[in-house]
Amino acid sequence: MIKYIGSKRRLVPVLGEICERAGARRALDLFTGTTRVAQEFKRRGAHVTAVDTARYAEAFAQTYVALDGAAADAQQIGAALADLAARPDVDGYVTETFCRQSRFFQPHNGRRIDAIREAIEHDYRESWMYPVLLTSLLEAADRVDSTTGVQMAYVKQWAPRSFQALELRVPELVPGTGTAVRTDACEAVHALGPFDVAYLDPPYNQHRYFTNYHVWETIVAWDAPVHYGIACKRVDARDAHTKSVFNERRAMPAALAQVIRDVDAELLVVSYNNESWVTIEDLCAMCAARGSAVRVLEYDSRRYVGALIGIHAPNGKRVGRVSHTRNVEYVVLAGEPKLVARAASSSDAQPLRA
Ligand SMILES: C[S@@+](CC[C@H](N)C(=O)[O-])C[C@H]1O[C@@H](n2cnc3c(N)ncnc32)[C@H](O)[C@@H]1O
Repeated sequence: MIKYIGSKRRLVPVLGEICERAGARRALDLFTGTTRVAQEFKRRGAHVTAVDTARYAEAFAQTYVALDGAAADAQQIGAALADLAARPDVDGYVTETFCRQSRFFQPHNGRRIDAIREAIEHDYRESWMYPVLLTSLLEAADRVDSTTGVQMAYVKQWAPRSFQALELRVPELVPGTGTAVRTDACEAVHALGPFDVAYLDPPYNQHRYFTNYHVWETIVAWDAPVHYGIACKRVDARDAHTKSVFNERRAMPAALAQVIRDVDAELLVVSYNNESWVTIEDLCAMCAARGSAVRVLEYDSRRYVGALIGIHAPNGKRVGRVSHTRNVEYVVLAGEPKLVARAASSSDAQPLRA
């Protein structure tokens, strides 16, 4: 699974337990990202709807959520990946843009990405395996990239993993059913559902996923965009339609309140951390406005690695200090009091308030 800011890797068992305790048959993961949480809901027996605006998130959701791992032919996927791995190198957009003009990958891997991505488009566009092959390529590229986990910059010296050869692996598909939707949560939320459990994990500050993961976006879009800056970001990163209201300080609280109000779910589960623009008290008030009981669980969480190694200028010089290396993750539950109590009962976290 790729490196992703805000990924709920450590919270996945807790969220899965909450979903199961709530007896959920229909679950929503409204800001699905890597789909880690959606996958766990699926493993716990729910039909999951996974939503995100990112193209790469849609590929992951089509692979891990919409596809029934019990029905998919793993041998066929393995044969397709072997075919792709045997294609001759191509010195194309990725090699030029992300290996020479910037340094996200070493050129030997850039040529593999160009060759494989081109072959996926040319030979597998109409195949049911299309998103699976894209997912395999993104995950392979992530294993040999030269970043700290975001694509606004690359590290000064090649990362040790970037010397390795890109290797395609068969994604571990999840048995069960689900739906992948690429859309804006604010526009679509009222029409999705009903759900037994809805999980919300929106961005809470200025860090844009579109720019932080622009390389994944371009590999999936495969549109060879005009780019700008040392990180060679897609030029459409400047366009309004690629911006999320959740990254705008003034507009975000109202957008969050709207999504919380409009989601049709018995149990609402909201992730939140203390680096957010809204306070936990405001978030609880938004949830309480649904007429629900609200309970807050608290977890200590190690911050993502980019924060731990400090802040560096493009010349590699250290320019800032890390203010803190741990943050607090909250899980807010809202719904009928008995349901909230049941869903929270197994958690090993400290309930902050009932
Ligand atoms: C904190 S991350 C979610 C991480 C996810 N829970 C995981 O474990 O990988 C927030 C996600 O919201 C998505 N996003 C941002 N604005 C959005 C919007 N308006 N509608 C839907 N998704 C959005 C981003 O692309 C990003 O994947």
